[in-house]
Amino acid sequence: MVQLYTTLVVVILLGVSNAQNGTSNSPYQLVKNYTSENFFQSFDFFSGPDPSNSFVTYLDLDTANDAGLAGYISSSALNDSYAVFLGTDFKNVTPDGRPSVRVQGRDWFNHSLIVADIMHMPSGCGTWPAFWLLGQGAPWPRRGEVDIIEGINNNSVNTLALHSDAGVSVANLTSLRHGNHSAMTGTFTSLDCDVGSSNVGCAATGSPESYGADFNAQGGRVVVTEISADVIQIWSFERDNIPQDLSEGLPNPHHEANGSSWGAPEVKFVNNGNDTFDDHFINLQPIFNTAFCGSWVEAFWHTSECSSLAPTCESYVANNPAAFVDAYWAIGGLQVYEPNGNYTSGYSGPELGRLLNHRRHHPRTVKGY
Ligand SMILES: *[C@@H]1O[C@H](CO)[C@@H](O)[C@H](O)[C@H]1NC(C)=O
Ligand SMILES: *[C@@H]1O[C@H](CO)[C@@H](O)[C@H](O)[C@H]1NC(C)=O
Ligand SMILES: *[C@@H]1O[C@H](CO)[C@@H](O)[C@H](O)[C@H]1NC(C)=O
Ligand SMILES: *[C@@H]1O[C@H](CO)[C@@H](O)[C@H](O)[C@H]1NC(C)=O
Ligand SMILES: *[C@@H]1O[C@H](CO)[C@@H](O)[C@H](O)[C@H]1NC(C)=O
Ligand SMILES: *[C@@H]1O[C@H](CO)[C@@H](O)[C@H](O)[C@H]1NC(C)=O
Ligand SMILES: *[C@@H]1O[C@H](CO)[C@@H](O)[C@H](O)[C@H]1NC(C)=O
Ligand SMILES: *[C@@H]1O[C@H](CO)[C@@H](O)[C@H](O)[C@H]1NC(C)=O
Ligand SMILES: *[C@@H]1O[C@H](CO)[C@@H](O)[C@H](O)[C@H]1NC(C)=O
Ligand SMILES: *[C@@H]1O[C@H](CO)[C@@H](O)[C@H](O)[C@H]1NC(C)=O
Repeated sequence: MVQLYTTLVVVILLGVSNAQNGTSNSPYQLVKNYTSENFFQSFDFFSGPDPSNSFVTYLDLDTANDAGLAGYISSSALNDSYAVFLGTDFKNVTPDGRPSVRVQGRDWFNHSLIVADIMHMPSGCGTWPAFWLLGQGAPWPRRGEVDIIEGINNNSVNTLALHSDAGVSVANLTSLRHGNHSAMTGTFTSLDCDVGSSNVGCAATGSPESYGADFNAQGGRVVVTEISADVIQIWSFERDNIPQDLSEGLPNPHHEANGSSWGAPEVKFVNNGNDTFDDHFINLQPIFNTAFCGSWVEAFWHTSECSSLAPTCESYVANNPAAFVDAYWAIGGLQVYEPNGNYTSGYSGPELGRLLNHRRHHPRTVKGY
């Protein structure tokens, strides 16, 4: 049996209190509840060469567990339950790439609300971790990619992105307000989701302390991704700010419609292209991985504070095992909800309505946001 004994301190497990009193208007119903009890029966370990060509060796379950890189982590705050631990080798000099893991869900999703209780994430010089969704059943990027948590080195701000083939773009809602409320807390850095030649996709930077050591210092966060036909949005909740309906297992995120307490998401990708998102984000598979170096890190190594540690990322990652002791994921749980009979899109704000009503009529340039 997979088991590790490491101790974490600050945790609140989402979904432990599941009081349902039938008075909710939740448009969602729970379809999957991955916990430490079933996670390793529900996710496969990818152990081939890294498709992203980074400086990593992905281990299979048995090898990773034997090496202490995958298993359960105990937490005093969880009483006798465990969180899922996905780690990185921090003992060996590894000239052929640092060992870590990449796990991929056996279940795939379309329209859904994906709730991830992340207690700790990898960070530090040379790291490139991600929690993301990869569309299955056709070569990338035909069925899309949704990057929920991703970044490099010592970043403290998350990068959130969609990647697709041609025909998908999003509106810049960075400065849009609904009354006194911002539509989102992050900032769009690019609006064309087509990977094209640069593979940037449409992307936004998140709010402060949404990534890395700062994220971990808060005991992590609960990160929620909603996938619908014309809107994909991602919230990042600090532990003292988790909506009650979400904690109760009756999530109702459509605050524009009914004034629920979710507040602004980090990013709101509102379709501004000719096609619905449904044509481009299909069979989405959840993935957690920890990579090292690779094109993104290499592009910034020489201008980052990390460059003082070693001339190249690969020399740093290969030769400094002890630096990677904190490069691990600790996952309190992952729940997936799908729309129920009460589902309506809920995006009735006048600005969004205007954007969405114009779909397919003409290519739109969104001005004034
Ligand atoms: C998920 O399962 C855990 C463990 O069985 C349980 O405590 C929790 O309430 C469940 N979450 C939801 C949202 O039902
Ligand atoms: C359950 O009922 C209580 C009291 O009637 C109410 O405050 C609470 O919001 C309800 N919970 C949900 C999820 O509807
Ligand atoms: C742990 O147990 C204590 C005492 O029974 C209880 O108050 C607390 O809510 C429990 N914590 C969790 C996360 O279940
Ligand atoms: C997602 O939608 C596509 C297209 O309608 C369908 O073929 C596929 O089976 C759906 N996948 C899931 C996981 O429901
Ligand atoms: C950046 O990360 C390295 C380890 O990878 C660490 O030694 C250094 O203190 C970090 N710098 C900051 C400013 O956090
Ligand atoms: C939408 O279709 C128009 C007309 O075919 C085309 O010019 C435009 O580039 C398309 N927009 C996107 C984002 O592909
Ligand atoms: C917006 O905030 C101002 C100042 O706090 C307040 O007077 C006003 O009522 C608010 N408007 C709305 C629509 O909430
Ligand atoms: C989106 O709008 C914000 C603020 O209005 C601006 O700072 C940012 O550069 C814009 N992003 C893009 C990709 O146009
Ligand atoms: C829709 O909401 C009502 C309460 O508002 C609830 O009784 C009913 O079970 C919900 N329907 C579904 C399919 O969840
Ligand atoms: C908003 O509340 C109304 C009345 O309770 C309900 O009919 C509607 O379904 C709710 N909408 C959403 C998106 O929750």
